Amino acid sequence: MERIRSSCALEVWEGELPPPRDILLEKVRDVEGLLCLLTDKVDSELMSKAPKLRVISNFAVGYDNIDVAEATKRGIVVGNTPDVLTETTADFTFAMIMAAARRVVEGDKQVREGKWKTWGPLTLLGVDVHNATLGIVGLGRIGTAVARRAKGFGMEVLYHGLTRKEQMEKDLGIQYVGLHKLLPESDFVTLHTSLTSLTYHLIGSKELAEMKETGVLVNTARGSIVDNMALYEALRDRRIAFAALDVTDPEPLPADHPLLTLRNVIITPHIASATVATRTEMALMAADNLIAALNGKKPPHVVNPGVVMK
Ligand code: DGY
Repeated sequence: MERIRSSCALEVWEGELPPPRDILLEKVRDVEGLLCLLTDKVDSELMSKAPKLRVISNFAVGYDNIDVAEATKRGIVVGNTPDVLTETTADFTFAMIMAAARRVVEGDKQVREGKWKTWGPLTLLGVDVHNATLGIVGLGRIGTAVARRAKGFGMEVLYHGLTRKEQMEKDLGIQYVGLHKLLPESDFVTLHTSLTSLTYHLIGSKELAEMKETGVLVNTARGSIVDNMALYEALRDRRIAFAALDVTDPEPLPADHPLLTLRNVIITPHIASATVATRTEMALMAADNLIAALNGKKPPHVVNPGVVMK
């Protein structure tokens, strides 16, 4: 904020919760730049209320909260924060894989509830991560960083995505397969695609039925890539063994959501990129994108590079 404040007038929404829609629409009326979070829906309605808006700078790498086509049409440049969160998010994905496989959260709960009576040969048996097969859906920056970690664990890595990456296959010793081969062959399936109309509910009841009964689904991408009611049913009926979700649909997940009645799921509040270093980098990048555009320059990280800036 200091960086922004030194180059333009700044108004900050101080609330912990996102600004209510009517207030947001009112506040954008005269602004030329908007630095927003993934919880802010920046759509054509908002843009029509903000005739002076020239830049939308998202404090996130994912930008499914923004109607980019509409922004481009209106000459508004859209920035995001790629690269700086890749390794941090991959670390967290591995934390989820490990926590699910080795029942870390259940173990902690047992201890706190005074249920740790003795060492037991059958207590909280999990599954091995080393030498298991990992299926990565979406081999972008984060998917690739997860693949590198998986090779360190001696895992066999399959991946699926829109484009095949043959050099990466050679470099990392990973294999491209179709989604319907990846799902039944993987012990762990981890999602790293962006959310688009093509990936909305990419994992539904049919896909979950294709996974192993012992399979674990990990989602650190976007909640609605998975049909969460289909996931609930698959977990409830033990058609898959476990899920580890950092993202849900909706967010936050209401306290009475059926997923929260299950023991074979762990859910964290969208924190995969949440380290001090990474969130600082993201903040600076979002500020730099905003400032560059307000000064009439192309921001360093643009998601609509073809835009003709206002
Ligand atoms: C993003 O950047 O898209 C993440 O979901 C939040 O860090």
